[in-house]
Amino acid sequence: MRAFGIVAFLVLVATSCGDNKTTTAASESPDGKAIYTQYCKLCHGADGQLGLNMAANLAQSELDKAGMVEVITHGRNTMQSYEGILTEAEIDAVADYVLTLRK
Ligand code: HEC
Repeated sequence: MRAFGIVAFLVLVATSCGDNKTTTAASESPDGKAIYTQYCKLCHGADGQLGLNMAANLAQSELDKAGMVEVITHGRNTMQSYEGILTEAEIDAVADYVLTLRK
């Protein structure tokens, strides 16, 4: 629940930053990289390899996209669930971005 509070706080900060330029991203095609930077970088790092709080190394992950969507949607162990925080389209976009981190 503490992680959820931090995420909610980040969302609040991000959305309260004045000008409307940033609000367009929410609709049509979500920006996977922006979502990753906002929600995932904290534990996984910019290149997916930070491993904070035992976070999995995403550059070496062997999950396919469906598996990633599953972990992101429902969480696993210390990684929280993003269901209700990110939309399905956003989870899809961030999973696509995570796949680009593979070495
Ligand atoms: C609070 C820290 C934290 C945050 C924030 C976080 N993760 Fe994780 N993530 C983890 C941990 C810890 C694991 C390993 C879970 C386990 O023990 O099975 C993990 C595992 C994963 C896995 C599974 C990798 C594999 O090969 O098994 C994926 C995919 C993943 N995270 C993606 C994401 C994405 C995308 C986000 C942002 C929406 C995110 N994570 C945010 C901590 C975090």
